[in-house]
Amino acid sequence: MLISGSGSNLGALIGHIDSINLEIVCVISNQAGVYGLVRASQAGIVNKVVKSSGLSREDFEDKLAQTIDKYQPEIIILAGFMRILTTQFTQRYLGKILNIHPSLLPKFKGLNTHQRAIEAGEKTHGVSVHFVSPDLDSGAIIAQKTVAIDPNDTAKSLAKKVLAQEHLLYPCVIKWFVQGRLVLKNGLAYLDNQIITTPKICE
Ligand code: GRF
Repeated sequence: MLISGSGSNLGALIGHIDSINLEIVCVISNQAGVYGLVRASQAGIVNKVVKSSGLSREDFEDKLAQTIDKYQPEIIILAGFMRILTTQFTQRYLGKILNIHPSLLPKFKGLNTHQRAIEAGEKTHGVSVHFVSPDLDSGAIIAQKTVAIDPNDTAKSLAKKVLAQEHLLYPCVIKWFVQGRLVLKNGLAYLDNQIITTPKICE
């Protein structure tokens, strides 16, 4: 798992680790001293820092790939990982790298999604889990969860509502992947050999 901060999604996956039959072999953060590393240590999970600051994108990714490849993971889970990955890196792991993004993609790619959704006058918002592709937040969408935007919502209150849904959605989707039911083929996501044409609800 790749993180950059609090690691609340890591925490959710740790909480579901038995029910989804997941083994987290290593947590890697590009930032030192983040709470996600504490969560990993408390769960007895190997955790490392591969610093991105001061390195070129290529040099950082070379070090990251070397660390990842030591563990030969079947899946690479981005969770609050705040780095944009190069085409070369995403192609290297295409089909086995997932991300969770706090918006109903393809709406609001990038940052500050909650504030942007409110400012756009949206009535609903939410979270998407998708395969990572070379273009930011643009890989095949697998599943989504929706929340209502209330008139008195702030970016903070909305983020809290979305985060609660993230913690339900990611474990559910990763369980599909661990079960071998979820694959990426020719840029399309398939669940049980059926193309995912509209984002799945994952209960
Ligand atoms: C979450 O909103 C996640 O969707 C986004 O980063 C935020 C923090 O994630 N990518 P976490 O608490 O570090 O898992």
